[in-house]
Amino acid sequence: MALTRTVGTRLDPGTATGWYPVARSADVGTAPRPVGAGGRAYVVVRLRPGAEVTALSARCPHRLVPLAAGTVVDGRLQCRYHGWQFNAEGRCVDIPSLGADGTPPPRADLGAPWAVEERDGWVWLAPDRTSSLRPPRASGTAPTPEPVPGPPAPSGPVFGNLDPSLEHAWHPVALARELRDGGYVQVQLLGRNWTVHRSAGELYGEPPAWGVQERFGAIWLAPAEPRERPLEVPEDADPRFVAAWLPPARSGSPAGPLADNFLDVAHFPFVHAATFGASDEKEVPAYDVDLEAGGFTSVQDQWFDNTEDPGVAAGTRPLRQRRRATYVYRAPFQLLLRLEELDAGAVKTILFVLQPEDADSTRVYTCMLLSGIGGATVIPRGVIAAEVAFEEAVLAEDLNLQARMESTGLPLMMRDELHVRADRLGVALRRTLADFAAADHRPERASA
Ligand code: FES
Ligand SMILES: [Fe+2]
Repeated sequence: MALTRTVGTRLDPGTATGWYPVARSADVGTAPRPVGAGGRAYVVVRLRPGAEVTALSARCPHRLVPLAAGTVVDGRLQCRYHGWQFNAEGRCVDIPSLGADGTPPPRADLGAPWAVEERDGWVWLAPDRTSSLRPPRASGTAPTPEPVPGPPAPSGPVFGNLDPSLEHAWHPVALARELRDGGYVQVQLLGRNWTVHRSAGELYGEPPAWGVQERFGAIWLAPAEPRERPLEVPEDADPRFVAAWLPPARSGSPAGPLADNFLDVAHFPFVHAATFGASDEKEVPAYDVDLEAGGFTSVQDQWFDNTEDPGVAAGTRPLRQRRRATYVYRAPFQLLLRLEELDAGAVKTILFVLQPEDADSTRVYTCMLLSGIGGATVIPRGVIAAEVAFEEAVLAEDLNLQARMESTGLPLMMRDELHVRADRLGVALRRTLADFAAADHRPERASA
């Protein structure tokens, strides 16, 4: 029997023995499997082929990602988002963004059931200490595992797509090219339907909105008087830049976690290994975040593999290069990332804005503003198309990860997640959105 950890002494009233069958032994391998025992969610997994079964709590404490989406690496369970690794006891033994000398904090450890045992071809868990040291013998009929519990709600507030404060903001609702003059487009925003018309160059909403405008090649709608400070995009008026929108994407994830993902650097080697993630640059050096009215800015120097640089193909520059990344955020969901390639000289700015359509639906708009790609003054159309296709592949990797999170919004209470050095942008996002939501309860600041 593998006694893993004492987490309590309560005898679960759900069964006479305190043991719960969770899966057939033959169905538990080196791919983590979600199970439920006594109303609690776990993953069961073999950390090496043929090894005994390990059972750990189901969610990574960092960003609450289900560990069923993780993988086994070197005898440890690795979270899919940022690569935190957990051993058979649930101890967090590696946080890659902290670097080789980093020490995971104790709060990074996972909970575990009191015991896990295989008997008669089944895996059994005892969530709490029980006086029955072994699970019951099979009685001839196969035991029935209980359903896997849904994710527990964070204890504090969560910023979801229907937060009332979102009334007071500009939201993208369409690309300008989706709305010709004399036409209309039906959109969903904050759980409601609107029709946006363009007539003789004028934009208006039906039912009436506080405002409808076109900016950066997108149509924006504000249901009520906006409180946020609009994002500035100097590249939009700079003739050295060419703009290219990706086809809008749709995600079942709320906008808050999508914005958090856009600001996150530590996930690159794990989520984007197939596109640009530099697999051996996992440490995220300390960086500063400068708070501003309604948002923040952060400048970071990063290493990356510049697979698009013709200088690499010609052998005049190394593949591994430096770039300066400038993140700009404006509440609620306007984000910009300016990537200045310090060796090759190109600039790529990614504008990322989100339309909170409904509680479980977000439309994602991404615009690339490009300058000097491949050293060209005029960037060939084929190069622009390739940049857009590459960014679509990157976005698809992010959206696939988000689809596994089962999130209802961004937790605003710091202790509901676990933040480390690399997460300063994510912490700033949570604080700014908490202020944005709180402004709804301060009517004296409504027009500030
Ligand atoms: S490592 Fe699990 S969510 Fe970040
Ligand atoms: Fe990403």
